[in-house]
Amino acid sequence: NHDDNKVMRMKNIEWIELGRYRIKPWYFSPYPVELTKVACVYLCEFCLKYLKSDTCLRRHLTKCQLRHPPGNEIYRRQNLSFFEIDGRKNKATKLFLDHKTLYYDTDPFLFYVLCETDSVGCHIVGYFSKEKESAEDFNVACILVLPPFQRKGYGKLLIEFSYELSKLEGETGSPEKPLSDLGLISYRAYWSQTLIDALLEIKRSAPNENDPPSVTINDLSERTAIKREDVISTLQHLNLVHYYKGVYVIVLTKEALDAHSRTQGKRRIRIDPKCLQWQGKD
Ligand code: ACO
Ligand code: ZN
Repeated sequence: NHDDNKVMRMKNIEWIELGRYRIKPWYFSPYPVELTKVACVYLCEFCLKYLKSDTCLRRHLTKCQLRHPPGNEIYRRQNLSFFEIDGRKNKATKLFLDHKTLYYDTDPFLFYVLCETDSVGCHIVGYFSKEKESAEDFNVACILVLPPFQRKGYGKLLIEFSYELSKLEGETGSPEKPLSDLGLISYRAYWSQTLIDALLEIKRSAPNENDPPSVTINDLSERTAIKREDVISTLQHLNLVHYYKGVYVIVLTKEALDAHSRTQGKRRIRIDPKCLQWQGKD
């Protein structure tokens, strides 16, 4: 297995401080070696500059004019915004912590940063990166929600946003493999909920109850921008596809519907496509 020869980097930073939070990084991050010697790395939560002490950060904050991440705000609804950052124009983005090969060259990527806004400014909650051109239809390279904000639904919100962008591009997309354990759990949850929603919608709009509506994998994929393979694997995982008298039949089981309404109840935040202003690639 060629993966056995892959270089594994040791986690090198003890703590980082970002806005109100002190966070223990999970992965290696490409900071200069001097910084691996300090107990905590301080980040300006707006421009993402890194500093070696609290004093340096406070001095920086008196000079730093930014109150939001660099880049264009392309989405705003209530207190949530997305900023699009071009990795070529903004080298600060290389400071994001992640576990893939995205260590130094950010040029080929766009970054979509989700922020919560208050009277002070826009505070980073999480982000995903996306290759400008992907030969394999990847619409997300890396996705991350900062630990203090995890398990509040922001992961699924970032995922939903990535598919809304794919819809605007007129394409279907899929996250880059391999997925981490938490990545797979979050995607599975998003795909299941989105596909069941689509099936319920198709069922509701069927002209006649006695004539069961038909649907194809392609229909589901086009409606949701979820790549065909992921549609198929999700329907199989939910055990909704049956082969009956020579045709494939999708059966929305009570079990699947119950699980669906339980998660719908929890899912308060959603992307409103009307609040997304995206010009396309330049
Ligand atoms: N244990 C069990 N289930 C979990 C956990 C957990 N620790 N975390 C999230 N989930 C479930 C949630 O219950 C939810 O399922 P539900 O809708 O059925 O209730 C689903 O996963 C999504 O939860 P969110 O709150 O929307 O996700 P969150 O904001 O926590 O973000 C993410 C998920 C981005 C994967 C986050 O855990 C993270 O940043 N992890 C570290 C980085 C990482 O692994 N990124 C993915 C790599 S793969 C890639 O980049 C393509
Ligand atoms: Zn700054």
